[in-house]
Amino acid sequence: MVSKASFGETSDGKNIDLYTVKNPSGMTIRLITRGATLIGVDVPDRDGRFDDVVFGFDTAEEYESDKYQYFGCTTGRCANRIAEGKFILDGKDYQLAVNNDPNHLHGGAQRSLDKVVWAAEPFEKPHARGVKFSYTSPDGEENYPGELAIEVTYTLTDKNAIRIQYKATTDKATPVNLTNHSYFNLSGAGDPTINDHVLTINADRYTPVDDTLIPTGELASVEGTPLDFRTPTRIGERVDQLNDTAALGYDHNFVLNQDAEGEMTTAAVVYDPASGRVLTVRTTEPGVQFYGGNFLRGDTGKAGKPYAYRSGLCLETQHFPNSINTPDFPSVVLEPDQTYTQTCVYAFSVR
Ligand code: BGC
Repeated sequence: MVSKASFGETSDGKNIDLYTVKNPSGMTIRLITRGATLIGVDVPDRDGRFDDVVFGFDTAEEYESDKYQYFGCTTGRCANRIAEGKFILDGKDYQLAVNNDPNHLHGGAQRSLDKVVWAAEPFEKPHARGVKFSYTSPDGEENYPGELAIEVTYTLTDKNAIRIQYKATTDKATPVNLTNHSYFNLSGAGDPTINDHVLTINADRYTPVDDTLIPTGELASVEGTPLDFRTPTRIGERVDQLNDTAALGYDHNFVLNQDAEGEMTTAAVVYDPASGRVLTVRTTEPGVQFYGGNFLRGDTGKAGKPYAYRSGLCLETQHFPNSINTPDFPSVVLEPDQTYTQTCVYAFSVR
């Protein structure tokens, strides 16, 4: 079942719609047209009790005034950081917004994909239902080259999985790196910590960064570091040993173990022993950014609940940060004769 309601309007008077998507077992997701954003995910725990496990706000105003958290949005045109917001493509210099000093982050300051209102088309199929969002970003928007036509389709399956499919085409070569920026706490959004969640990440390597969180270009082994999640490990177990970056906590891009480029792989599994909920993340992307909520500072979210330091985690499937300036990383350049695609699945179950 898919239903539509109003979610208010933007400060410049554009209507924002809310879509509520429910499957036969009662799992519900909520999506808004601003930012093609996932604002709610109600899933059962091991006793069948439903909780909303993602962060978000109750009003359009709060989404608009939040400048740094990016709850649940479609992130881009280039998710993650680009060093000093600079790149050269086809011999031309580009300067993007420096909105995360000294770097560019998540597509810019004014018209990044999370801040614009997308068109939406709900759909229902025999075992799946959802919403297809589309947005055409004009040539030069946020100083990115090319008119970029983007589609993001959220599908809720009968088996409690959210499938997010991305597609984009351009009329000029341009960097594209899209992701979803949901923050999860499997005990329920607003629970004070993710330290007791048990995480597995299917990665032997990660991309070490400099002190502004830009990769050095090296692919380093996770062996013997607090980034070794190849076997299930409590997030809190080693988080305080992390002093390798300015984020002072988990905020790292992992290089997924993939047999072939673009092949669907399990990126991560998160298990919450308290609720029994399990989140399995699968993707066609080469990387996943595991961000452990180090920059959360207790701001109030849905239903008046505060989101404390390290109380939510993001598993953002994407290409590596600053790929546009790192020739050895998988390319993020989309050419006019190509189609960008990505699939990311957030599948829920219980133990
Ligand atoms: C980044 C963090 C950033 C957060 C919120 C994550 O994708 O890795 O460094 O603080 O987004 O903007």
